[in-house]
Amino acid sequence: MTIATKIEEAGFRPASRIAAIGVSKILQIGARAAAMKREGLPVIILGAGEPDFDTPDNVKQAAKAAIDRGETKYTALDGTPELKKAIAEKFRRENGIDYALDEITVATGAKQILFNAFMASVNPGDEVIIPTPYWTSYSDIVEICGGVPVLIPCDAEAGFRLKAEQLEKAITPKTRWVLLNSPSNPSGAAYSEADYRPLLDVLLKHPHVSLMVDDMYEHIVYDGFRFVTPVAIEPKLKERTLTINGVSKAYAMTGWRIGYAGGPKAMIKAMAVIQSQATSCPSSVSQAASVEALNGPQEFLKERQASFKHRRDLVVSGLNAIPGIDCRTPEGAFYTFAGCGGLIGKTTPAGKVIETDADFTDYLLEVAHVAVVPGSAFGLSPYFRISYATSEAELKEALQRIAEACGKLA
Ligand SMILES: Cc1ncc(COP(=O)(O)O)c(C=O)c1O
Repeated sequence: MTIATKIEEAGFRPASRIAAIGVSKILQIGARAAAMKREGLPVIILGAGEPDFDTPDNVKQAAKAAIDRGETKYTALDGTPELKKAIAEKFRRENGIDYALDEITVATGAKQILFNAFMASVNPGDEVIIPTPYWTSYSDIVEICGGVPVLIPCDAEAGFRLKAEQLEKAITPKTRWVLLNSPSNPSGAAYSEADYRPLLDVLLKHPHVSLMVDDMYEHIVYDGFRFVTPVAIEPKLKERTLTINGVSKAYAMTGWRIGYAGGPKAMIKAMAVIQSQATSCPSSVSQAASVEALNGPQEFLKERQASFKHRRDLVVSGLNAIPGIDCRTPEGAFYTFAGCGGLIGKTTPAGKVIETDADFTDYLLEVAHVAVVPGSAFGLSPYFRISYATSEAELKEALQRIAEACGKLA
């Protein structure tokens, strides 16, 4: 059921721009799991899209100091000069790319960056190429802005990565953007320089197509994977690339709501027009905290990475030990996206046939009391996503329950 139908039933006439947007399966599962928990059932929720660490202390202190200095008023529209300087320095230091201050924008989370960018650039019918599985907000934001998401399936065999031939085939005269996310939510797959190169070569041949890259999980990569962002590989694409990042995942700052991007000056200016009528500016206190996050000590990132890697290995090996489940080892982020094709067609003890990945995840919630998200929620089946940003004890318990529940399928 779409949001529009639901609201209309309640007597309100919604705008057509939300007509095609469905209630997120992730939210539905989360609500169901939370209700079961309230009923006293021992539900383990492996759906969180945020690190289980706390915001670093130096960042909290910087926010308190900003309040005490009186930095509690509106700031410059798309970011304070201090934060833009810290972001420019971050791009130079960590990514080897140069963005001037007027090529940088700051918003209330990377989500608002995406929103500003599509609102500022997409006309009705413009196409946005999105490899699947994808973070569901991508297609919903594109649709709200009047664009047409063009979803390209990239399965586990392809490493959940878009191939150059697929990109070439998907580009039409109406293509406005290609949106790439590495490491990916939900698959954890990441593009190396060698993976990116053929895609960037395709884009060089199509000057009417712009590139949006979401580098949100840059700092959560494993096994020596070398993170790289497209503009560093192909500077010729800088004039039509928007490089998106933020402090939410790397610095465990999801609630502070700061995201940022580097891009062509004209694009950044257009995004500011949208932001000026939406939020006026990002939170002053959160911007001060983000300056400290980017300029302060970075060593803890490695420690957190090691902790996530330990949990990734636990989940991947636990899942692969279950007959019928096949889990690729992700290069980054804190998600696994495992195949459950081997369980489709099996029957539960209650006599229900598992026909889809959503049937499987419903079964896990009902019988094992473990909440995970079906691949269909991210545009690719039959898979399911686990977020392992939770305690090792909970992960072990969840894996045991999943294995037991799978063992009962006939
Ligand atoms: C791939 C990806 N990009 C962007 C975001 C949004 O981040 P922010 O908290 O900065 O809005 C998320 C959050 O889940 C994400 O998974």
